[in-house]
Amino acid sequence: MRERKGIILAGGSGSRLFPITKGISKQLLPVFDKPMIYYPLTTLMEAGIRDVVVISNIDFLPLFENLLGDGSHFGININYLVQENPDGIAQAFLLAEKFIDGFPSALILGDNLFYGDKLHSQLLKSNSNSERSTIYTYRVKNPERYGVINFDSNFNIDNIEEKPQKPRSSYAITGLYFYDSKVVEKAKTLSPSSRGELEITDLNNLYIKDGLLDIENIGSGSAWFDTGTFESLHEASSYIRTMQNRQSLMIGCPEQVAWNNKWISDEDLYRLALPLTKSGYGNFLIELLN
Ligand code: DAU
Repeated sequence: MRERKGIILAGGSGSRLFPITKGISKQLLPVFDKPMIYYPLTTLMEAGIRDVVVISNIDFLPLFENLLGDGSHFGININYLVQENPDGIAQAFLLAEKFIDGFPSALILGDNLFYGDKLHSQLLKSNSNSERSTIYTYRVKNPERYGVINFDSNFNIDNIEEKPQKPRSSYAITGLYFYDSKVVEKAKTLSPSSRGELEITDLNNLYIKDGLLDIENIGSGSAWFDTGTFESLHEASSYIRTMQNRQSLMIGCPEQVAWNNKWISDEDLYRLALPLTKSGYGNFLIELLN
């Protein structure tokens, strides 16, 4: 199998979080005890993806580089690319054409957080299927805020509508997408929407038309947060805090996933943990070794 490339889209204006995001990238804000980008990065790593590019705007890209470096301490490669203007989520594939290099890819939005028992096997399955593409859905109370799936009478996917005023289902499209090796070719055929963006929904509708798109639903036992507003950011932080304190686990911990995947050794993990003990983060990593 050709190894899938991972893309984390971490740009945008962040205007829904102003004034917080006037001086800092949204995807570097804390979600409880970690920078937001740790969560999507960990999700890609859980899928088994080791070659990752972070796309952000020119002002914030160096901050991501300071935080994540070249990824080798997590046993992965991390590259960086500039998006000059937030011209749409699907633009990520045009910017990352060279990086993707004809491989299958996965895109995750840098403000999306996924957690759940069954998720790991769903991610591995999506990664191993390089012939078809997969999007992830989640039932929500407010589908009008998202891309929404329309089903036909046999419950097959009909199409996806972006932020419909009157949603026909409550299945929102989350910000995690696995594509075959044709995604760049397809993204090149898109035109900007009425709001001037290359829409991920238009790209997904092309895959639906070609009969190449599968859906994985994230069940009610799992969680998905899009942390783009004050409320959802706070909710995500509270959720992580509650789960971690209650069950003595870590969510969105790239060191742990790298170690579980055997991409780093016990010694590597210990070395990573030592400078992080004052905050308690490192102690969790050391306990893993015991
Ligand atoms: O979160 C899931 C939703 O994400 C999907 O249900 C929608 O179908 C999809 O269009 C998207 O909707 P949003 O309204 O949340 O998209 P937003 O413009 O807020 O962008 C999502 C993230 O991607 C955000 O963290 C900023 C980043 N972004 C966005 C654009 C348009 C970029 O880095 N560059 C961009 O050009």
